[in-house]
Amino acid sequence: MTIILAIETSCDETAVAIVNNNQVLSSVVSSQIYLHRLYGGVVPEMASRQHLETINFCLEKAWQETGLTWSEIDGIAATVAPGLVGALMVGMTAAKTLAIIHDKPFIGIHHLEGHIYASYLAESDLKPPFLSLLVSGGHTSLIHVQACGKYQQLGTTRDDAAGEAFDKVARLLNLSYPGGPIIDRIAKDGNPQAFPLPEGKISLPTGGFHAYDSSFSGLKTAVLRLVEKFEPDNLPVADIAASFQDTVARSLTRRTINCALDYGLKTIAIGGGVAANSALRNHLETAAKNHHLTVYFPPLKLCTDNAAMIARAAVDHYDLGHFSDLSLGVRSRLPLSEVMQLYNISL
Ligand code: KG4
Ligand code: ZN
Repeated sequence: MTIILAIETSCDETAVAIVNNNQVLSSVVSSQIYLHRLYGGVVPEMASRQHLETINFCLEKAWQETGLTWSEIDGIAATVAPGLVGALMVGMTAAKTLAIIHDKPFIGIHHLEGHIYASYLAESDLKPPFLSLLVSGGHTSLIHVQACGKYQQLGTTRDDAAGEAFDKVARLLNLSYPGGPIIDRIAKDGNPQAFPLPEGKISLPTGGFHAYDSSFSGLKTAVLRLVEKFEPDNLPVADIAASFQDTVARSLTRRTINCALDYGLKTIAIGGGVAANSALRNHLETAAKNHHLTVYFPPLKLCTDNAAMIARAAVDHYDLGHFSDLSLGVRSRLPLSEVMQLYNISL
């Protein structure tokens, strides 16, 4: 039994959670989306200030919900990379302060490792090795999860991340931010076959195409060209949204299934905000069934940013004796394959 208090402030959600192994004792998420929506995307300086305003309330609320005493807490964790530097600083500083005051170990967590661990909270039977498809606002990654702290990135995006593509296409269609959930909703009234769109392939210098990397910028441009063909008042928003969404879903599904089969991985776990997408879930589920693979989808509130997933990753690091130095800094970028640096361990 390991009880961890964790803080997540890498982007536009201030989140605090307390987790006992796979059991979420409390999880508070305060979203700043209403603030950034005015600007059509996340404004880093405003994000940091808002985290500062909100963090103490979130801590207080998460703490009160559990009724625990400090002696019952084993460790304090915070997301330290990757993300907006100013935003990460707020959560990390709060976590280090609590660790010092209450004399607990501090555990810095990689945000993407948190997204992978969201699946563990949803499926307690899940065990490495498996293939993780991480699709969020900033990442599109296929990761071979070998063990806690041991990750091999097999695929990534060459340009826009999947969520970013949804957000940009939503803007082209005059829909608000974040675009993913709105496109998902509007697409239900559209025909996914209305407009054939390019899936986006990465050519290899040796000929052929990269099997696991994605590219969404060509698709985004194709949507722009399509939008330009219509008068603004007659834009078939639902059909374009459905065609775009279906193209993204097919492209991600094809790459994920090929990757799992090539690497002999029988289990796929999906995470990140775009994992909530209904077309992606449908396509992946059908394809996985056809290939006798198991695919896990965490519930929506564990797909988008939260601190429970950060705490769950910290439980495994704590149990393995992976602790961070109090001199650890935040990083805007850090490859997942280098995550053990956060604990001064080289693999
Ligand atoms: O994981 P997340 O909450 O934050 C990051 O770490 O980026 O992901 C946010 C992204 C946004 O781009 C949002 O548009 C997208 O996830 N998203 C969706 C859906 N719900 C959220 N994209 C497609 N379909 C959805 N249902
Ligand atoms: Zn995220």
